[in-house]
Amino acid sequence: MKVIATVKEMQAWADRIRRRGGRIALTPTMGYLHEGHLSLVREGQARSDYLVLSIFVNPTQFGPEEDLAAYPRAMERDCAMAEESGVDVVFAPTETELYGPDFQTFVSLERLPRHLCGRCRPVHFRGVATVVAKLFNIVKPHVVVFGEKDYQQLLVIRRMVADLNFDIEVVGAPTVREPDGLAKSSRNAYLAPDHRESALTLSRSLNIAQDMAAAGETDPQRIVAATQTLIEKAPHTRIDYVEIRDPHTLERVDVVEGSVLMALAVHVGKSRLIDNRILTPGG
Ligand code: PAJ
Repeated sequence: MKVIATVKEMQAWADRIRRRGGRIALTPTMGYLHEGHLSLVREGQARSDYLVLSIFVNPTQFGPEEDLAAYPRAMERDCAMAEESGVDVVFAPTETELYGPDFQTFVSLERLPRHLCGRCRPVHFRGVATVVAKLFNIVKPHVVVFGEKDYQQLLVIRRMVADLNFDIEVVGAPTVREPDGLAKSSRNAYLAPDHRESALTLSRSLNIAQDMAAAGETDPQRIVAATQTLIEKAPHTRIDYVEIRDPHTLERVDVVEGSVLMALAVHVGKSRLIDNRILTPGG
């Protein structure tokens, strides 16, 4: 496995592979790898000849009050896990390699970031879209894999790829969970044991929401209210949002019919956790 830290070397590697007709997959991450990330690696490997895993804690997607400095990092452990998983290249640039002192070009979307996480994190999706566009130009992948865990992020990337005509296939992969239902996340590392118990209400409440929809509840507000009550009862929780939305545009829906997205973001202790589920009404 190669570990590459510079843009020039990464681009030269990609050019070499492309000249030989090799197909490149990319899975972008911020590191502190877990089974969720590795499932994306496997998905990418199944669709390519070479898999590049990027590890970069991207400063432009963190707001001034957010956890950039505290974000967990474990480069050596990550490289061992990547190698074990058969990753071909880890691309791990420094901050100054990607953002020089004169940096001033950003990619921002008009509508998708107005909803859900974008409301609480105003600069977040601009930072994500910018760094991902840069990674596309540096790693030159044919296919990229993103997790459905970050549902809004996946929509933003799909939209950006279509709008800016990147010649790249975007694959979404299902959320990997702990046996008790908690979605795997690097931020779970911050959870104390009693916080972890509270964090379980996220996936539990999504399951209850699905049960309500399956039983014929069509009023999104009633499903949201039941979910909020359940989460608020758990200690150490503070809700950012609980919403039922159109799964393509993220706009509000008045009735639960067809498939709708239920998405939530909750502070549990010091961690801000997100989860989501597509609700499919019964019948
Ligand atoms: P990060 O949070 O490290 O996540 C990297 C990728 O792993 C994302 O596509 C995310 O959706 C996916 N992922 C996280 N938890 C998952 C789980 N439990 N199951 C399946 N996939 C999971 O998302 C980012 O980094 C950054 O915003 C990034 C795209 C790298 C841009 O900086």
